[in-house]
Amino acid sequence: MVEAICEEATIAPFGAYEKEEEISLSKFHSTISSTYSTSTTPLLFKYRSWSHIVSPKEFKDELHKTLYSALHEQTITNLTHQKLRELGLTKLVGVLGSGAFGTVIELEGDTQKDIAFKIERMPAPIADRDKELFGDALGLKLPDGAYLGNAKALLTYYEGEVHYIENYDPNLHHAHILVGVFSKALKGSPLFGRVHKISENSEAVKGYGKRLAEALHALHNAGYTHNDLHQGNIHIGTPKEGEDPYALTLLDFGLAKKITPEGMRYEWGEYAYILKYLDQKNVLAKDLNFQDLLYSPTRGLIGGVNPYSETEIINHPFFA
Ligand SMILES: Nc1ncnc2c1ncn2[C@@H]1O[C@H](COP(=O)(O)OP(=O)(O)OP(=O)(O)O)[C@@H](O)[C@H]1O
Ligand SMILES: [Mg+2]
Repeated sequence: MVEAICEEATIAPFGAYEKEEEISLSKFHSTISSTYSTSTTPLLFKYRSWSHIVSPKEFKDELHKTLYSALHEQTITNLTHQKLRELGLTKLVGVLGSGAFGTVIELEGDTQKDIAFKIERMPAPIADRDKELFGDALGLKLPDGAYLGNAKALLTYYEGEVHYIENYDPNLHHAHILVGVFSKALKGSPLFGRVHKISENSEAVKGYGKRLAEALHALHNAGYTHNDLHQGNIHIGTPKEGEDPYALTLLDFGLAKKITPEGMRYEWGEYAYILKYLDQKNVLAKDLNFQDLLYSPTRGLIGGVNPYSETEIINHPFFA
């Protein structure tokens, strides 16, 4: 569990938000841009659990405060809270993490558990000009079981209402504004909390390196590059006996782009630095395959004149 460095926003109590006023999309946009450009929300705060809070009223108040401190907008906060209640998600279990673009909370209800909900700090349309999903909404079209943190559903804001979307219809939904993304709440911690231990063990470096390469390969096959590959966006699991000891999940598609040859090449360059970071204790200093993959003057991913292609990387003897 990562230490809590949580700064709470000072906000009015729940009752103050009960009155719902209609706002237009343009007002929403201007509220959003003026609010978010001056946002001072801390980027570094981690797991905070509300399990000590028992009464439903307290859960309700904390959930409302948390939504408001991310969304910075009362009407959307009210509607989002109401929608979560309609979905039966009444309990805030804790804050799973936070980054530049969102706060991720864990929710549950009487019949539902392990629900992660990323509240968008800078809500934007869910689709691009071609009506294709992009940004965090992209998670909805990513494959299951490929080390990718795909989304289960979205909450959007459109024409004065908050909508729950499991199946994206370009004609109906392309102009909706993304408010939040549902996914499975993962056990474990971001890579930066675990790298110290991983880097002591060459098998672990290799195992996680291999799965991350597979995650990127699956994402690229789906037509996108991630573009934000860093140790906060790679989630390391807590496998039980008999499960894959090196399971990881690539998270956060907020900056993903449609794939291009340059984008792909850049991404594998970034990947190489993650691999190097995994081996920060140099346990693979004498592994010739590792050295070749990263540092071959001709083909190496770091500084090579003509770096290995994706297919060559996936089939490289380092991963055999
Ligand atoms: N499904 C999940 N289960 C557990 N933890 C999660 C989940 N999704 C996100 N997190 C945690 O929340 C953190 C922030 O989420 P995310 O990376 O999506 O936000 P962000 O604001 O887009 O980040 P960035 O600063 O990288 O752009 C992650 O680093 C991760 O630790
Ligand atoms: Mg992130």
